Amino acid sequence: SLSPTKQEPCWLGTAIKDLQISPTPLRPLEQSQNHTVLFGSFKVSQHESNPSQSNNYIDAWDGKHVRLPCSPKSLYPIMSSDNGESLTERWGMIEAALLIDINSSIDLEEAILTYNSRNAKQWSFKGLHSFFAEDVDMEYRRDFFEVTLPKMIQLALRLPFLLNKPIPLLTAQKSHKITMTQQQIACLLCNAFLCTFPRRNSKQKNAEYVEYPDINFNRLFAVGGRYGKQIMGEKLKTLLHYFKRVTDDMPGGNITFERRALDEFPHWSQSPCELFRLHVNSVDRIENAGLGMLQVDFANKFIGGGVLGAGMVQEEIRFCICPELIISRLFTEKMHDNECVVITGVEQFSRYSGYAETYKWDGNFLDTTESDKWGRRRTKILAIDAIHFRRKSDQFTPSNLKRELNKAFSGFMCNYDDDEPTAIATGNWGCGAFGGDPLLKGLLQLMAAAAVGRDLCYFSFHDSQLMSDLFEMYTFIKSKKLSISNLWYTLTKYNSEVIHSEDEKKENLLEYLHRLHSEYDDTTDEEL
Ligand code: AR6
Repeated sequence: SLSPTKQEPCWLGTAIKDLQISPTPLRPLEQSQNHTVLFGSFKVSQHESNPSQSNNYIDAWDGKHVRLPCSPKSLYPIMSSDNGESLTERWGMIEAALLIDINSSIDLEEAILTYNSRNAKQWSFKGLHSFFAEDVDMEYRRDFFEVTLPKMIQLALRLPFLLNKPIPLLTAQKSHKITMTQQQIACLLCNAFLCTFPRRNSKQKNAEYVEYPDINFNRLFAVGGRYGKQIMGEKLKTLLHYFKRVTDDMPGGNITFERRALDEFPHWSQSPCELFRLHVNSVDRIENAGLGMLQVDFANKFIGGGVLGAGMVQEEIRFCICPELIISRLFTEKMHDNECVVITGVEQFSRYSGYAETYKWDGNFLDTTESDKWGRRRTKILAIDAIHFRRKSDQFTPSNLKRELNKAFSGFMCNYDDDEPTAIATGNWGCGAFGGDPLLKGLLQLMAAAAVGRDLCYFSFHDSQLMSDLFEMYTFIKSKKLSISNLWYTLTKYNSEVIHSEDEKKENLLEYLHRLHSEYDDTTDEEL
């Protein structure tokens, strides 16, 4: 039977243990045309090497790779004694500024601004100062400035030794993946915290990285105000916990970041597929019940959204409890409509409670997720950005329906070498900050999952009404054997007949679905 018999069920549909979550073996890890492996003895050619920095460091100061702060070509203007300007290697300035004693957030600001002097006027560190002055005690402060920060600086300065191969940019409309170690990521994140990445601070229209998310942490350090201060404090506790953990005991796993750009999509109006299995659940969350599934990140097209600012909803929370996700911002260009990002292997370091302005760091988390043959935790996260609907009715237009179906499909689709057609752990994608309708988005995600033959595990975020509505819709569709094309037709008809009708009181999607297909049955189906 489809539903459990308890009085107030916390889930409906197929039990999680009966969904597809079993792993299949991977081929050996190897570098290829569309896969850059940033560690081990994989050959990289065609880049000049620079023996002055470390024996193996290979520099690539160009538009196709991340411009690393340790590149000898990263130059910075300084005033010379005769008041003229001269250029100096910025990495040397960074080393000099960070290797002196830093005992307070004021010292830290000063150090960071040494090699970011051009931004000194625009950048504010008021959030950082108030955090250390008001939110934490002496012991915390001392531990950070005497223990953790010096280790973070040591790790950041090992950049040319730890990342001796160029990191390709994951540019728009090009499928590519990058695999790197958790240690390399920690080193890059320490650099981000210390705001060392060059060219990433300009907001000008023609700036080189306008299509990329921010990566230097300065924006976070500025967050303050009544609403911002609370979030900033808890966010910083979460992130500093990560830095403490990795500088105490470096994890040894690997992580893959993959950009997927698709050019072929199903013809939604013609697809005969029927819905796959559904588990819908009102108590659990994606990150704690989605073990072994493809876990959806309700993303911004700039991956990570407001994680380095004041935002703290689903995506930002996930990026804070699993901070390795943040490094995707270093190399992932803004997602287009036909694209998604899949990240495999991240570790969760923190627990949390609350949400948005009530978010709180809730201590250490020990992630016991097993690893695959590539040394990656079996945690797969799919970043897909929904449309931000400022007007609710817009989401039912055929072009927007198609856009959201294609976006979900680009992520759910599964014919890549290290992919398994596991269930998809998702929920109210696009229905919080982005204003979407959960019942519609639930249906669109079911349709996209059906097109690729995957189960859907839907977490309704404590909404039991939504859980039962979604399940009712699902069982109705299954009982009528409606195909994707039937559903496409229903949705477009709903748009023209209900959304664009003059009626004040509008029928909801579930009611409409019932009415349309029951009426239809009355005239055609002999069984009724
Ligand atoms: N598990 C399951 N459901 C959740 C979880 C969770 N851990 N957390 C939240 N929800 P939202 P959006 C539910 O607003 O509308 C960010 O800034 C909850 O019902 O984060 O797609 C991004 O960077 C919540 O209201 O996603 C984008 O800029 C709903 O999911 C923007 O927000 C939607 O969560 C995306 O907004």
